[in-house]
Amino acid sequence: MTQERALVMGLPGKRTVEEASEWVKRLYVTERELMRTLGGYHVHIANWELKKRLPRHIWQDSLRANALRSRVLEMRYPRRDVDTGHDPLLSAFLSSLIRCGNDAELIAGVYYVAKEALIEAYEAYLRDADPLDDAPTIEFMKRYPADLREQLAEMTPLYERLASGVDREALAAWRGSVAAYLRGIGGLLGGKEQAGAVPAAIATRPAYVPPLVPRRDPSFVPAAYHMPPKAPERFIERQVWQGINHVNEIWAAEIPLLTMWQWDNMPWEFYLDSARWGFDESRHCMMGEERLKAWGFEAGVDYPVVADHYISMSGHGELYVLALLHAFETNGPSWKSGLKADFEAAGDTASSQDFDYDWADESIHLAYGHKWLLHRLNGDIDELEDLKLETRRLWLEWIGKKHQEWDYEPFLERIQAKIAALESGREAGEP
Ligand SMILES: [Fe+2]
Ligand SMILES: [Fe+2]
Repeated sequence: MTQERALVMGLPGKRTVEEASEWVKRLYVTERELMRTLGGYHVHIANWELKKRLPRHIWQDSLRANALRSRVLEMRYPRRDVDTGHDPLLSAFLSSLIRCGNDAELIAGVYYVAKEALIEAYEAYLRDADPLDDAPTIEFMKRYPADLREQLAEMTPLYERLASGVDREALAAWRGSVAAYLRGIGGLLGGKEQAGAVPAAIATRPAYVPPLVPRRDPSFVPAAYHMPPKAPERFIERQVWQGINHVNEIWAAEIPLLTMWQWDNMPWEFYLDSARWGFDESRHCMMGEERLKAWGFEAGVDYPVVADHYISMSGHGELYVLALLHAFETNGPSWKSGLKADFEAAGDTASSQDFDYDWADESIHLAYGHKWLLHRLNGDIDELEDLKLETRRLWLEWIGKKHQEWDYEPFLERIQAKIAALESGREAGEP
């Protein structure tokens, strides 16, 4: 049989849809698992700057993962196998990164090995992507190397500080082992000859166990609960009390981020929602910290930063912690909208604007909490209502005990002294 002649003008084909979707699927699972690793370890992070800043990156990771996942579904249509059938060697590598021993090792493995490899993988994909045939992928992916470089640049000063507090040799050894492991599986895009041996330095590390007490910066003064035990009497106290409340919303970032790791078989939208939820709560925390800082208060020193809500529930499992958050958030939108109006009327537009945006976020969180708790409870709405009541009851019992055990010193004295200084400054005509 003679071969038919074909026209060979134009660019030669370089990549089939099957090959392209296989690559994009590997990039999706990498972004997703790095995001879940950072989320799962967040509650274990001690460094306060890293604790506050990381949720934004986790949210950015979720957006990239989502675009990649949608593109795989388009290219493989009508196949829906985007969340199954991953390369076991790649999955094993990605799941090993959380076995880091401290904050610095987490960042070394995730950022300075895996994210750097991701930049290379995106650039390799884009080099041979057909500008017309694969334009829908190129449109979003072309920004990813720069986006990841921005994350790395933001992380650099933080990482330097973290690295200065640990054994440099041990840190370099961990980073080297992670890099060797990745090379051994043929990189993020895989290779034909994969060995996949797990380096002993990683294989011998124990499995990650999230702490029941969320870690806080070692420079923070210990505390049993975060809100002053007495109701504010004057407006200035109310301003400070609300600031303290905002900063301590970091626990509300820790729990949705933890469940991203603990619950590994949820629908994709759960991870997307949880990443946003965690990011929002870290923003609420930073809103409070910014205001209090402007008034001269230092986090963890002049007022407590402690995960009392979380600690009160964590012995019952992560479902209870998330349910307590949802129970509180049920009243969130009406409470926050009231705060917005009150603070605006009093002339504190900084706080009132924060509450306004916070209130907008809370309305979304309410839907997230309802949807995903109900999913965990197999759609049993009565069980969800009972769980919310039970967590509130347990919380009130717990905090009642803590109020008897601790009188909020030395914080109460410090706060009152700072408020007095602020008021006398005002009387003296200072701005
Ligand atoms: Fe919040
Ligand atoms: Fe919230």
